[in-house]
Amino acid sequence: METTLVLIKPGGVQRNLIGEITRRIEARNLKVVGMKLIHAERATVEAHYAEHKERPFFKDVCDYLTSGPVVAMAIQGTNAVKAIRAMMGATNPLEATPGTVRGDFALTIDDNLTHSSSDPEAAARELGLWFPEGTV
Ligand code: CDP
Ligand code: MG
Repeated sequence: METTLVLIKPGGVQRNLIGEITRRIEARNLKVVGMKLIHAERATVEAHYAEHKERPFFKDVCDYLTSGPVVAMAIQGTNAVKAIRAMMGATNPLEATPGTVRGDFALTIDDNLTHSSSDPEAAARELGLWFPEGTV
């Protein structure tokens, strides 16, 4: 059993995709064990994307993540990390397979609608950051 972090980024919230994305996750028989709608602190977002600190897109992606409310979700299930990554699709929506969230609803990499943890170690770190109070 694994728990992973999903963020519905501001573009996804703006486009009323909270229900659609959550529906897909639940339909896969993954369980929502934490969920909140928040306007994230810049420090949280910068820590979240710390691995990308030296990348040219770091400032833009941090600006984007703090530009409006996000939904943070803790998702639990067998192989949840890999299952969720596959459901969200490739980082660049143009390369994301139809049937994935990004392949169905996104067009550009700077507005690719969701974040999901890349591996179990990243999931543990990110869940600590977004759910310091713990999950249910
Ligand atoms: O989100 P994912 O793990 O698929 O991709 P990443 O390589 O960890 O990059 C994190 C986020 O930075 C992406 O989801 C994009 O929102 C953004 N990004 C970007 O705007 N331009 C790039 N060339 C690469 C990433
Ligand atoms: Mg990543």
